[in-house]
Amino acid sequence: MVERVEIFEMGPRDGLQNEKRQIPTVEKIALVDCLSGAGFRRIEVASFVSPKWVPQMADSADVLAGIVRAPGVRYAALTPNLRGFEGAVAAKADEVAIFGSASEGFSRANINASIAESLERFGPIMAAAQEQGMPVRGYISCVTDCPYDGKTPPGEVARVAEILWNMGVYEISLGDTIGQGTPESIDAMLGAVLDVVPAGKLAGHYHDTAGRALENIEVSLARGVRVFDAAVGGLGGCPYAPGAAGNVATEAVHDRLVALGYETGLDRAALEEAAGMAKQMRVERDV
Ligand code: HMG
Ligand code: MG
Repeated sequence: MVERVEIFEMGPRDGLQNEKRQIPTVEKIALVDCLSGAGFRRIEVASFVSPKWVPQMADSADVLAGIVRAPGVRYAALTPNLRGFEGAVAAKADEVAIFGSASEGFSRANINASIAESLERFGPIMAAAQEQGMPVRGYISCVTDCPYDGKTPPGEVARVAEILWNMGVYEISLGDTIGQGTPESIDAMLGAVLDVVPAGKLAGHYHDTAGRALENIEVSLARGVRVFDAAVGGLGGCPYAPGAAGNVATEAVHDRLVALGYETGLDRAALEEAAGMAKQMRVERDV
């Protein structure tokens, strides 16, 4: 039997959050609706963060209200604090994500908190989510390299992963935020994290700045990881990670996985259509 590898689509959130042009809500909704027909089980579409920090995501509630929800698809939102969690619940997100960092410099730049403070902030979100039966995913950024602090020690990623895991997140997504990871550094990082969290509960979230994301996915597959985050058209970046390029492109990950003998459950033609829409959004930014 062909083994399934899941791609968690990030385009509408990680892809669009860094775009300078304020993308009209209707365009975001059209992209999500197109993605909803492509076969994904999970699509990240919203982010309930401060609109002063990330203005592009200010219409997240309107996006969640405007999309046509496909059966079997979970629509996810980032929630940095309890206020964000309450916003996501009111907008009927199907799951939320807390996001921390394995490096102090990025933690401060991205969420204005030390790693320890951020983990404390996540406590009330986890408690509220558990009460409501809301699944929570956990991100760890800068798992190999940080734009402020340089190389991240694998042990530090494992330390944060163990804390998030013990808090009750259902999966941990390991972010190569600035796309500087190499097959060697990703493998070393996974070696440390796998001592504390099983491979089936991990995801790879690799930005493609240096063009190594597909190689890093292959190394992660060899370590047993079976979920990868990607964005159609390779959209995106993080506003607090200077120089970060987009997530690895969904269609490229799909093609590599199929070439390696896995199945993704995705419709290649629908991916192409969504990638075209995503690229068009970027072209319009540049004119
Ligand atoms: P802060 O300034 O320390 O907190 O921000 P604050 O509590 O003082 O609030 C500042 C202002 O934001 C206040 O407004 C709050 O009301 C408001 P003011 O009184 O000044 O008018 N505020 C909010 N508004 C809406 N929704 C909220 C909310 N919370 C406070 N939930 C905070 C702390 C965490 C809020 C801020 O730093 C923030 O929003 N950061 C988000 C940064 C972000 O979204 N980064 C991109 C996503 S992470 C990423 O891309 C990485 C990832 O892809 C993985 C990877 O690639 O590595 C996931
Ligand atoms: Mg990211």
